[in-house]
Amino acid sequence: MTTRIDGNAVAADIRESLTARIETLQSEGVTPGLATVLMSDDPASETYVSMKQRDCAEVGIDGIHVEIDTDAPADELYDELERLNADPDVHGILVQMPLVEQVDTRRVLRSVDPLKDVDGFHPENVGRLVAGNDRYRPCTPHGVQKLLEAYDIETEGADAVIVGRSNIVGKPLANLLIQKADDGNATVTVCHSRTDDLAEKTRNADIVVAAAGMAEFIDAGMISEGATVIDVGINRVDADTEKGYELVGDVEYDSVAEKAGAITPVPGGVGPMTRAMLLYNTVKAASLQTGVDVTLP
Ligand SMILES: NC(=O)c1ccc[n+]([C@@H]2O[C@H](COP(=O)([O-])OP(=O)(O)OC[C@H]3O[C@@H](n4cnc5c(N)ncnc54)[C@H](OP(=O)(O)O)[C@@H]3O)[C@@H](O)[C@H]2O)c1
Repeated sequence: MTTRIDGNAVAADIRESLTARIETLQSEGVTPGLATVLMSDDPASETYVSMKQRDCAEVGIDGIHVEIDTDAPADELYDELERLNADPDVHGILVQMPLVEQVDTRRVLRSVDPLKDVDGFHPENVGRLVAGNDRYRPCTPHGVQKLLEAYDIETEGADAVIVGRSNIVGKPLANLLIQKADDGNATVTVCHSRTDDLAEKTRNADIVVAAAGMAEFIDAGMISEGATVIDVGINRVDADTEKGYELVGDVEYDSVAEKAGAITPVPGGVGPMTRAMLLYNTVKAASLQTGVDVTLP
């Protein structure tokens, strides 16, 4: 029997556990605040930001939304980040990527106060994570870890193959899974577009994480019997639906589900976890900045 890993259910449990912690913070006069910053007219980015704001409202986090004109000079964004860094009501800052071309993305990542960097992309936080002393784990990799934990999928001693080496998914997940820790201790192979014989690598894995952004390209022939398959991919493909498209993962779900021991669906797998872990990091940020102790799960 294949286990369908239910990201909506695990994310709901995490949100519930955060609600209690937000109440503790509020009883000490602290309402966690998350600023989302948008400098793009990409409709997908607009949707992501509004979903994040809605998620905040649902758990009692103050959402502050800042929108900067896409024609504005980059300095407007850098100045806004300075203002948000200095605002004591803002505990977390999320700059929605990708940014317009006049902006230096690396400078933006460096400009967010590392204590407010709830995405975990500031070089200081990246370095801490690699060194095994993380402050904020990037939301998607952390969400993947929480899914594995919720379904008792052992990472210790497991051979994990991650397909994709981006700074937001593949690299941080690899660094987390190799840590000497209960939710690490895996042996990790990171694959990418230049990897030779990808199928041979994935077929030998106990855990396969697909994060390449290629619709349904991992098929049953690439997976070993009983493996855990985590599908991070979100791809739009043309479909006969009202919107004219549907969302599919990087994994060919139906065929792989027949072979896998456990598998995440798309949608309803990693996506809701990414959103929940942003709230988690915001609560942690509020706690770190105010000294109100909330022990997070
Ligand atoms: N569920 C969520 O919450 C969530 C969060 C973030 C991202 N995503 C989705 O996850 C996917 C990956 O996102 P990303 O931002 O990490 O993407 P990205 O920056 O485009 O990175 C894609 C990675 O996949 C590798 N790749 C591409 N084609 C490949 C192939 N044929 N074989 C092996 N590797 C290949 C690339 O290799 P090179 O480095 O060699 O180019 C790159 O390392 C996207 O579908 C994205 O929408 C979902």
